[in-house]
Amino acid sequence: MRTLGIETSCDETAIGVVDDGSRLIASIVSSQVQLHAEYGGVVPELASRKHVEAMIPVLDEALTEAGCGLDGLDAIAVTYGPGLSGALLVGVNFAKALAFSLGLPLVPVNHLEGHVYAAWLHTDPTDPASEGPRFPSLVLFVSGGHSDIVLMEGHGRYRRLGQTMDDAAGEAFDKVGRLLGLGFPGGPAIDRLVAEHGRAKTLRLPRARLDGEYDFSFSGLKTKVQRIVRGEEGDAPEAAELAAAFQESVVDSLVTKALKAAANSGAREIILAGGVAANSELRRVLAERSPVPIVVPPPELCTDNGAMIAACAHHRFAAGDVAPLSLDIDPALKIG
Ligand code: KG4
Ligand code: ZN
Repeated sequence: MRTLGIETSCDETAIGVVDDGSRLIASIVSSQVQLHAEYGGVVPELASRKHVEAMIPVLDEALTEAGCGLDGLDAIAVTYGPGLSGALLVGVNFAKALAFSLGLPLVPVNHLEGHVYAAWLHTDPTDPASEGPRFPSLVLFVSGGHSDIVLMEGHGRYRRLGQTMDDAAGEAFDKVGRLLGLGFPGGPAIDRLVAEHGRAKTLRLPRARLDGEYDFSFSGLKTKVQRIVRGEEGDAPEAAELAAAFQESVVDSLVTKALKAAANSGAREIILAGGVAANSELRRVLAERSPVPIVVPPPELCTDNGAMIAACAHHRFAAGDVAPLSLDIDPALKIG
């Protein structure tokens, strides 16, 4: 079964083609990051307009990469939430038009669930890892809008064990990136700067203590960085040192809590999901400290893409999830 997945929830217009929920055939991502960078964040109205412009060229490119035409598709999948309303509407309406005109099923996908299914994508069917993660799996979900610890007990079965009390991990990276004058988005910029600088040499920033065993908090850390940058805590260290100490603190909190949750829930594997999963320090530390196998998709499949939406849709479709053409967006959709 060949599924086309459409993703427009934020600032990437993305379309992927996936066979049988796991075999990656094509993935095209048109990023608007340059457009929004000058405003220091995503401007919703501009994002929607750009999605409209990019949709058809991205579809053409995805089909060219897949080596098939529209008649080679078996289902149309689309992100219907969470995300920016106007941006979601562009993708959902485009998907409806395609599904209607081709007479194909329209499969609605939760963007967060889509991120998790990046863990099922592979290009080589002879690789034993292509079977996908085993259940129960512990998902460390870290993106621009979410930081959750979720136990995945089966396809489509999620139990949220912990979440952030304030900022999401990606949001914290973006805010600290801005404080350090690194532009937007801060996550990849901090990752690159620290990769050149190395570990923090003198500075150690605090880890939040919380009542919830698997909950996170990053806003205190961000405020601490802000105070240091403003010189309220003495001479400020150079940006690279501060970025390294910040990244170490975030990664330590994320990994420590995820490992604890995995041990206490008997998880057989840990899946790293969401845009922040592209972070090289997070990937390294999780691999180093995890006693159970970890599934970490390549960085380009961790950030928003259409292939993960198509992979997820395969399992939603198998569970009987097909949307009517009256499908509406759900900007505040959750997982678990
Ligand atoms: O999942 P995603 O692409 O979009 C959302 O659904 O939110 O995540 C975007 C977030 C941004 O906050 C971005 O700064 C962060 O992921 N991010 C990173 C890295 N690449 C993307 N954060 C840290 N290190 C990275 N390499
Ligand atoms: Zn995302």
